[in-house]
Amino acid sequence: MKKELKPLSYDAGALKGISQKTVEIHHGKLYKGYVDKSNEIKEKLGSIVKSGKAEGNQIYSELRALKNGESFANNGAYLHENYFAILGGDGAPKGEIVGRLAERYGSFDGFKTYFSACGMAARGWAILAWDLHEKELRIFACDAQNHGGIWGTIPIIAMDVYEHSYFIDVGSDRKAYIEAFFNNLNWDKIEKFYQRAKKYDWE
Ligand SMILES: [Fe+2]
Repeated sequence: MKKELKPLSYDAGALKGISQKTVEIHHGKLYKGYVDKSNEIKEKLGSIVKSGKAEGNQIYSELRALKNGESFANNGAYLHENYFAILGGDGAPKGEIVGRLAERYGSFDGFKTYFSACGMAARGWAILAWDLHEKELRIFACDAQNHGGIWGTIPIIAMDVYEHSYFIDVGSDRKAYIEAFFNNLNWDKIEKFYQRAKKYDWE
């Protein structure tokens, strides 16, 4: 199945502190690039499978390049889909997840401080995820979308901290961008993703 671009559920100019120009480039060009490359790679891998002549080499091979690209492009598409889906709200925390975060990180502010610090420490993404193994929330700091996560976890809040997310708006002030990110969070969506992830029975 061909991957389709997921449209924004709000106006590109609707966010506070993250400009229309940033959102248009980020969604319409960068995220779209991950979707398009996911499809291109899938088609090429499909041809290799169909030919019955798959061959790999760990130093360099077309298969190695495609498999690395598959992981980078697909994770890039999925994380951006989460990122754009959880923005567009009023930033006011609500839902069962808020209590769970407070329990896990001492208080909601404790969560925000730790998550924001992970966003400052990472080169690509800070991700709050539900761990299906431990049945618990956990936070990852990822240098790229195919780095730093653990299998068996489902992203709930993916915060893009690549410079393309904020440089047009605040220059190198990533802290100001992280604050803007929190101010635009849609906690109804976050709660929905949390409840959906929690339902999955790993056993
Ligand atoms: Fe991005």
